[in-house]
Amino acid sequence: MRTLGRRRAVRTVAAAILAGTVLAQTGAVDPWANSEWSPPPGYHGPVFKLSHDYPTQMPAIPTNPPWIRALGGKPISADNALAYVEAVKNYIGADMRTLITDYDHWNAAQRKWYNLPWMFSIRDPIRGTYHALPQDASSFPLSNLKKKVINDYVLVYYNDVAAYTLGQFWGKTAQEPNFKQTQFLDGSIIIKVALTDALASDWSPLEGAVVWDLYPPVLSGENPSAPTKIVKATVFQLDIIVKDTKTVPRVKNPGAPDSGTGWVFSTLVYDKNIAGDFWARMVPLGAMWGNDPDINSVITPNATLQQNVVNPMAPLYAVETLGYGGRLSGPNDGAVSENNIIDGQPVPRARISSCMSCHGVAEWPLKSSLVPSVNGSADNPSDPNNSFSYFLKPGTVEFNQWFQSRPGDVPQDDGAVALDYDMNMTIKALPLWLKYSGGKTAVRTEMLSQVPKRLQRLLLEPEKVTKTGRLIH
Ligand code: HEC
Repeated sequence: MRTLGRRRAVRTVAAAILAGTVLAQTGAVDPWANSEWSPPPGYHGPVFKLSHDYPTQMPAIPTNPPWIRALGGKPISADNALAYVEAVKNYIGADMRTLITDYDHWNAAQRKWYNLPWMFSIRDPIRGTYHALPQDASSFPLSNLKKKVINDYVLVYYNDVAAYTLGQFWGKTAQEPNFKQTQFLDGSIIIKVALTDALASDWSPLEGAVVWDLYPPVLSGENPSAPTKIVKATVFQLDIIVKDTKTVPRVKNPGAPDSGTGWVFSTLVYDKNIAGDFWARMVPLGAMWGNDPDINSVITPNATLQQNVVNPMAPLYAVETLGYGGRLSGPNDGAVSENNIIDGQPVPRARISSCMSCHGVAEWPLKSSLVPSVNGSADNPSDPNNSFSYFLKPGTVEFNQWFQSRPGDVPQDDGAVALDYDMNMTIKALPLWLKYSGGKTAVRTEMLSQVPKRLQRLLLEPEKVTKTGRLIH
């Protein structure tokens, strides 16, 4: 049985390498390429330039940064967490304003923001975004989204402290990632700009928001193909995550695994009703620094969460998509699933994830699905149309595996290397490295042999994986 499984894996890898191509064999693949695609004919504006000159010296790490000062010397809680988010927002404000509203003057390298390698096949050449998630209008029942299906695009940047770890991990060549260097240092900030191809005319909460021109490749075939048209997309969410083991320290639990995530996850969402410019209108939706494992939201749905806070003033469209038991998740994040079967019963709408629940499976190789699915995948093999998602029953021990508050160096699954909550690495850069770096077939085969069969496709067809761990068909 074992040998057969292995042989099959070898064949799949070989096919993937072939698809990922001739370029690999001629050694011409450049992991640091900006994008495989050219901007549209006649386009003369600024283009995306991959920033990858990662610091090789450890950057000065602020000892008492403004976000920690904002806590007023108290432990992080619902009382001061939004002040923490505001302080981080201010700290990155000048850079984000330029990136988002003054693209002609955006120079990521100069401002010390960095990107990941290997993502050339999915990046749009104008902005460097890539497709993250298609969503049905039914995801937003209360805010009158008129477009039937929306597509979300994202762009990720790491600050210099985070990029120091990227340099240690990827080295100069990005060919041989060093899995002993996966942990980010305190002061690391990672941001993600999220856009939707819904415009204000489709969705009134977006009135007055910034619109970007993207030129996304087409992802429907076996491999991506060249972009065919400019897509107008609205900036509606900005994730900000901060490594901060001072605020969220590791806790030793006698007789039980350590806890304490070491991170504060937060997100800003566009609120058209706020006075001021676009940046003033990006308001905190909330923050979380753990998954509240001690609160079983099925048994005690009204218990107040202790490691999550949601801004009571946040706009309606953004709170429609909060996660399991009200844990933090944003409109672009997919923590709410439509059309599900749970415990044999149809469930039209289920809250099954949260920022840190989904990011908690950042591990290599990936051994759990991103969301708590039956069969280790959001898809069900006996349902070829993928019309339903199959989830573990919320509140059960199995389901709760996705709602722990593990430190970033403790993987969700035994035998995997924890990637410190970094999903961009787990589900995009590393699988793309696997696909395009060529050679090392044995290493990869061994790696894949540890991955449950249903998840292998996620690693082998990374271009088509959405952020909830499903494949675009
Ligand atoms: C259902 C899964 C899921 C949920 C929920 C989710 N994310 Fe992510 N996130 C991903 C995946 C997958 C990626 C990488 C691919 C991408 O960028 O879409 C990612 C990327 C990111 C990144 C870029 C750096 C990194 O770690 O990869 C940040 C920052 C981020 N998410 C923050 C958040 C925040 C904050 C929330 C909640 C408000 C959130 N995410 C909710 C799956 C999720």
